[in-house]
Amino acid sequence: MNILFVTSEAYPLIKTGGLADVAASLPRALLKRDHSVRLVLPAYPRVLEAARKVGLKPLASLTYGERNITVWQTRLPGTRVTVWLVDMPEFSNRGGNPYVDDQGLDWPDNHRRFYWFGVVAAELAMGRAGVDWRADLVHGNDWQSGMAMALLAQEPKRPALVFTIHNLAYHGLFPYSAFAELSLPEHWWHPEAMEFYDQLSFIKGGLVFADQITTVSPSYAREIQTPEFGCGLDGLLFARQAQLSGILNGIDTQEWNPGRDPHLTQNYSRRNLKQKVVNKLALQERVGLPPSEETPLLGFIGRLVEQKGVDLMLSALPEFLKRGECQFVILGSGQAQYHTALKELQALYPEQLALTLGYDEGLAHQIEGGVDLFLMPSLFEPCGLNQLYSLRYGTLPLVHAVGGLNDTVFESSDQTEDGTAAESTPDNGFRFEAPTASALRDALTRALALYHQPDRWRQRQLNAMKGDYSWEKSAQEYERVYEQALQVRDQH
Ligand code: ADP
Ligand code: GLC
Repeated sequence: MNILFVTSEAYPLIKTGGLADVAASLPRALLKRDHSVRLVLPAYPRVLEAARKVGLKPLASLTYGERNITVWQTRLPGTRVTVWLVDMPEFSNRGGNPYVDDQGLDWPDNHRRFYWFGVVAAELAMGRAGVDWRADLVHGNDWQSGMAMALLAQEPKRPALVFTIHNLAYHGLFPYSAFAELSLPEHWWHPEAMEFYDQLSFIKGGLVFADQITTVSPSYAREIQTPEFGCGLDGLLFARQAQLSGILNGIDTQEWNPGRDPHLTQNYSRRNLKQKVVNKLALQERVGLPPSEETPLLGFIGRLVEQKGVDLMLSALPEFLKRGECQFVILGSGQAQYHTALKELQALYPEQLALTLGYDEGLAHQIEGGVDLFLMPSLFEPCGLNQLYSLRYGTLPLVHAVGGLNDTVFESSDQTEDGTAAESTPDNGFRFEAPTASALRDALTRALALYHQPDRWRQRQLNAMKGDYSWEKSAQEYERVYEQALQVRDQH
């Protein structure tokens, strides 16, 4: 199958979150299964810079009135995946974050940027950009590719369309003036098309027009059909439930491999798990915590936003830090209010809490390898990747049981002595059901108690490390969805 994968980020060219990791791994897994895959991505300056190192050549040139758009061809570094870069000044002349300015505010022309991105993706998919390749199927991701889906749906001889929701909280909403400026078809201004309570919604381009919709875990696929998690789109998703499914993300098992990870001081595997503690001591030293093998070391990595449950951590953790029961390493960046609150907490407990504000790929690996327990108290979590990295690294995740966390982290309430209660899903972490500080506190108390029973702790680590988190199975599930999408399209 010829598959065009439309995404606004892809690791290692550009990454703000898990979408970049998925966009790097899934196309590779599909390529291995003999599909012809092309990835289309905006040409942000950082992307062009990185792409120049692996080779960049002009592929196509498109002109719309005054607007000239160049499409470059490159490769995803370290892979055979062909990448097409959409180059126009709104992408390539602007540094910083792909979506927001230095203040964290959306770029004011995002509607224009991702409209033109959609136009070019659609032209490439239709084989009309002067490139000898045409898509059988277009796989769009999140709101930034919603316009590509909507535009392609208008084509009489179109590819099949699959749209993946990585995070329903981001809709790509714009005022009517944006709709008018882009001269979109009048009939799209309708609740059954791209209007959402008097605004233009890019994500609805995918949710309404795609032949199949997926999201990144089975639990999240169910949750988003309810008002609690549906972000106002639950009605639409419920109505489309026959075309909606959840496929768990895999991880890049080469990039995230404790046996070979170059960022770790000491590589280790299930066979020499005892060596893991060397990384703990190295991490404590790196982040300036008193070195201690015995003190349980907790970690958190992620965007410091409401979704990630930062408020729960801020309420539940201080008492543990105060009693000196654990140490905690945090790496993240996001909303200013969380930066301030965490800095204050660190000032109170400098021996217990190490805080790194910013983005640091190497430190992220060292945290996964070095800590004992990884916290993910997310209020919602479509899939989550860090719990999967943690499992692979024998670092036990402690999670709020929602979305992908619910589908990947297990803790039976009636465990047997060795912690292997249910055969099919042996305990591999800790979970709590209610999104409250007291539920988090209870789970953390359980985890710290188990930590002091080394044999049972080790058993849980081994269970975690035994899991298969590779992309193979998920790629096969996507193939099945692609087949269904082709059928749905042909019925129209
Ligand atoms: P989301 O996509 O919602 O941010 P995921 O768990 O799916 O959450 O993916 C987050 C990815 O980004 C992981 O690979 C994680 O390690 C990485 N990450 C997030 N924040 C940072 C940071 N400050 N430094 C390094 N890596 C980070
Ligand atoms: C989103 C979600 C995260 C998911 C990632 C990749 O950013 O917040 O849960 O793992 O996309 O699918």
